[in-house]
Formats: sequence, structure tokens, C-alpha cells
Amino acid sequence: MTLPDQIIQAFTERYGASPTFLARGPGRVNLIGEHTDYNDGFVMPIAIDRALWIALRVRDDEQIAITSLDMGETAVFPLANLQPSQPAWLEYVKGVAWAMQSRGYSLRGWEGVMAGDIPIGAGLSSSAALEMAAVRAFAAVSRLDLPLAEMARLGQKAENEWVGVHTGIMDQMISAAGEKGHALLIDCRTLETEAVPLPQGTAVAVLDTNTRRGLVESAYNERRQQCETAAAHFGVSALRDVDWEMFRALGETLDDIIYRRARHVVTENGRVLQAKTAMQQGNAAALGQLLNASHHSLRDDFEVSSPALDTIVKLAQNHTACYGARMTGAGFGGCAVALINTDADTRDFVRQVSTAYQAQMQLTPAIFICRAMPGASLSIL
Ligand code: GLA
Repeated sequence: MTLPDQIIQAFTERYGASPTFLARGPGRVNLIGEHTDYNDGFVMPIAIDRALWIALRVRDDEQIAITSLDMGETAVFPLANLQPSQPAWLEYVKGVAWAMQSRGYSLRGWEGVMAGDIPIGAGLSSSAALEMAAVRAFAAVSRLDLPLAEMARLGQKAENEWVGVHTGIMDQMISAAGEKGHALLIDCRTLETEAVPLPQGTAVAVLDTNTRRGLVESAYNERRQQCETAAAHFGVSALRDVDWEMFRALGETLDDIIYRRARHVVTENGRVLQAKTAMQQGNAAALGQLLNASHHSLRDDFEVSSPALDTIVKLAQNHTACYGARMTGAGFGGCAVALINTDADTRDFVRQVSTAYQAQMQLTPAIFICRAMPGASLSIL
């Protein structure tokens, strides 16, 4: 039985009736454009074939009742006078309710059962997936027809202001607006999107190092701060507005760390746009080189990689089936992404990289090839 079928069955057992809706929020992997979203820059993520689903039906008492099959917990909260509480996973749903109500949307209550197959804390955006499934759930019972960018902004507001994690817009935007078989070029200033196809004969592999590092949040906030300091130096509102010529002309007087942080963002924005061209030309080799260059910049200039990420990236890059690889997401642990040649022996790629990584790091990685899926959806059952 598929996971959505199990969720529907669990709902039916719990409530003695079938659910009315099935909301789905996909996880994501970012192909290129890292730590550029909060600089108003460009990103090129993919919504993947791993998701969080909620089976639900409306309730008339303005309460939300939700069971997480993964956590084995049920929680209930009223829509009025929202208060922070436990468990932590519930706060994403409550944060979405809070964000929607504070933007003036009138919400109805619902009861639901949820589960997902996105590894949590691996950097594949399980939280954005839950936020987008929750936005879809609230919109369905409350009869709201929301534009995709608005759904993403609501999820980001929940994450930033309710949960208190100061992420950019990339994760929610790709989970909301992903396109089947394509990566999505997102302009994080305007939220304009453009679907870009993967080169023929390629696939995207996710390589989970199986390392999860604490303190990611403080390091992330520090990077944001450094980028703001750099933007102020250049006299612009965000590093998006600094091109290579401007960087060369005015960057020299920056302190070394800020200089390197800014250099990463300026060059990474350029790489995303070059990646778009390479993809449109079907040039897998060029795209792979851009991924490799992105990793070096994240490792040396932005300093958000880790020994585990560097190891798995190098092992992937050294395999003949691989066009290029890099760390993906916030960094410090979690996943890498690789562009691989589907005409080559991809099973050998998975086997070789897994074995060598295990031998070097004494950790078992999880490597899987993902498919680019549509963004969050709602099915009427
Ligand atoms: C995390 C954040 C995103 C983005 C990436 C880095 O995934 O949630 O907004 O900043 O890190 O590119």
C-alpha cells in the first residue's frame, strides 16, 4: 500500500468515515543557487518525489485536530487565541494558521492524519513540505484560492515569525510551485519562476551524509548578517544588486571574511544563470562543472560545508557516471546533490560512493535518485 493510502486508511479507522481531501507538500533538493535566496538572488531547486501528506475533513467547531503517524502523537488546538506549545511538529501547522489569520484569511477547522517520507533534518525541507501541505489543507476547508507565491510567503511567515527560524523563501517556493520533470529557476526578489528542463540523459541524485549538525541556525544567522554587512558596504539593499564588475571595483576594502562571503553570493548568482543556459542547451558537462564550482565556493568562501559533505562530494565527482556534485541546502551536514548520467551505470555509482563513504567516514549514507515532481497539491477524495 502506498503511503497516501495508509494515511487515508488511518484516518478512516480513527474517524469512522473517509477523509474529504488529501493535501501533499513535496520536499526539495536545490540543484544550484545556495545561500542566495535571502540575498534576493537566484535559486534552481527541484521538488522531489518525497512528500508530506495530510488526509483531512472539515470540522465545525473551529478546532484543528491532527495525528502524526510518524510521531505517534495527536494534538488539538483552537483557531482562536493561538498559543505556542508542544510538540514541535505541531508548531508548523499552528504557525501556518497564525500566518493565514494574521494576513486576514478567515479559516475553518479540520481534523486530519499526516505522515511523510522526507527524512527529517536532512536538509530536504521537511518543514516547508509540512507548511505547504498545511496551507493547502486550510485553503481547502476554508474555500480559499491562493496564488502559489502567496502560499509560499505564508509558509515562510510561519517559519520565520512563529517557529522562529529565519530562512529565505526558496524551500516554501519550490514546495509550492515545483514543476514535473523540471528544475525551477526562482528569482527570490520578484518570486517569478521559470521551469528549466534537466539535460537529456541526466538524473539528480541526493546523497545524504547521515550527519546532522546542531548550531546550523546560529551559523546561518551569522551568514545572513555578514551578507547584510557586505550589501551595506556596496550601498545596495541586497547582494543581488552587486555584479562581478562592481564587486571587483568596490570589494577590495572589505574585511577578508565579508569579502569571501560576498564573493560566494555574487559568483553563485552568476552560476545559477549560467546553469539555466547550460540546461537549455542540454549541456550536462557544463552544468556539472557549475555544480562543482558551487561546492568549492560554499566550502572555501562561504564556509558552510563539512568533512562529511566534502567527502561524499569528492567521491561522487570521482565516479564516471557523475557530471558534477556539491553540498545542498544550508550546509554543515545533511545532503549533497549530484548530476548523473543515466546512460552510465547509476547502480554502480550508488554502490561505489556508498561503500567508499562508509569506509572513510564510518557512517552509512543514503543515496537515491529523485524525480522532479509538481509542487504542493490538493486532491478531492
Ligand atoms: C536553508 C533555508 C533556505 C536557503 C538555504 C541555503 O535551506 O531554509 O531558505 O537559505 O538554506 O541556500
